[in-house]
Amino acid sequence: MEMQNKHFIIHTYGCQMNVHDSEILAGMLVQMGYTPTADEEEADIILINTCTIRDKAEQKIFGKIGTLRRIKEQNPDLIIGICGCMSQQEEVAKKIKVNFPHVDLLFGTHNVHQLPEMIKKILMNNERVFEVWEKEGEVVEGLPQHRNEGISAWVTITLGCNNFCTYCIVPYVRGRERSRKPGDIIKEVQELAKQGFKEITLLGQNVNSYGKDFDTPYDFADLLSELDKIDGIQRIRYTTSHPRDFTDKLIEVIAQSKRVCNHFHLPVQAGSNKVLKAMNRGYTREQYLELVQKIESKFPEYSITTDLIVGFPGETEEDFQQTLDLVKKVRYDSAFTFAYSPRSGTPAAKMENQVSKEEKSSRLTRLIELQNEISKEKNLSLVGKVYPILVEGRSKTNKDYLSGRTTTNKLVNFPAPKDVDLTGQIVPVRIIQAQTWSLIGELESEE
Ligand code: 5AD
Ligand code: SF4
Repeated sequence: MEMQNKHFIIHTYGCQMNVHDSEILAGMLVQMGYTPTADEEEADIILINTCTIRDKAEQKIFGKIGTLRRIKEQNPDLIIGICGCMSQQEEVAKKIKVNFPHVDLLFGTHNVHQLPEMIKKILMNNERVFEVWEKEGEVVEGLPQHRNEGISAWVTITLGCNNFCTYCIVPYVRGRERSRKPGDIIKEVQELAKQGFKEITLLGQNVNSYGKDFDTPYDFADLLSELDKIDGIQRIRYTTSHPRDFTDKLIEVIAQSKRVCNHFHLPVQAGSNKVLKAMNRGYTREQYLELVQKIESKFPEYSITTDLIVGFPGETEEDFQQTLDLVKKVRYDSAFTFAYSPRSGTPAAKMENQVSKEEKSSRLTRLIELQNEISKEKNLSLVGKVYPILVEGRSKTNKDYLSGRTTTNKLVNFPAPKDVDLTGQIVPVRIIQAQTWSLIGELESEE
């Protein structure tokens, strides 16, 4: 089949897992001969990689799918495809099939690797292809990846999730937890180092339970210590950690490592033991605080970030106060904060005493205010200090500045003449100004 001069666009919503899946989708399309474009009118294939974590995401995506109708009218040969977590839900797949006749292709999270076959089927038979695998298959290795250019690469280590937090749709749309083999991961990271990537982020819904499905004992800490030996890669990050599975061994390995970053993203979700239990999180606030204490005692300097949900069913004002109290105790560098959104099929959606919309939004506002204050204070405490910054490129908002990150994952912008390109290098930068979300610095001369 002749694919020269054919173009594709992938619109990606949701988490890093999706961002990385899109790199694999792009890899397969490039291998088929398609070229990426940013112009929808020029595209021969438009894929929407969807997220269903909260209702808001879903509404936005339905809006986007609707707008593609006009483009399809102009270009009837265009293939419009929907994939990702929304597709994996039966009601959503049905709704798309019936209400959005301009969609030609729909597939789920478990059959991403079938994209080339599905496209060929559409082109040859001129028919709509809707194919979602209900269950996860074996981990598929060796798929091509069209990585976003840059200095940082995503590397999947586990797929799926076994936690079943009662609010969360992920286990239903991403299947059971499966770990990639250490050998495959190590080979991939060695290859990335050769290609010039400076930073990797290991991906999984719960990276700490890596290896639990192996016959012989091998865990996340073991994997990290092996990856730490790979020269060329300067920084290793990972997301997401489950606080329940963050072992002493892991803290020790990170503390001893050369390249694993001193940034801890530990989603706590709520500060009240009653709510944590109803969420099925598997730890108490006391256990969580103890974990933070352990990290504090091991690392002279580190950052800690979290995810928080307000208005989980049954959460009272007192419970919410416990969340505020925990945030004050831990003093997070930053937090992703969410109002609870009922997801059909999850246990929490069926719980009684759902919290009103008004109450959720009031709690969210108060939580964000507190967190912003703490973020700003923590950032202010860095002013005057010098940190090694891995430069990612020119700042997106001001081209007179270069942009990069500390090992603690703080974004730092610093002025640099236009002809100075430090991208991919680690340079010392003195922090001179703090904002809530980022820092401003100046390049420190290295005499
Ligand atoms: N409502 C609100 N927030 C949610 N999250 C997951 N499911 C829901 C939901 N139903 C949040 C959690 C998780 C982050 C990725 O999204 O905080 O850590
Ligand atoms: Fe990622 Fe979960 Fe959204 Fe799927 S539903 S894209 S796994 S955040």
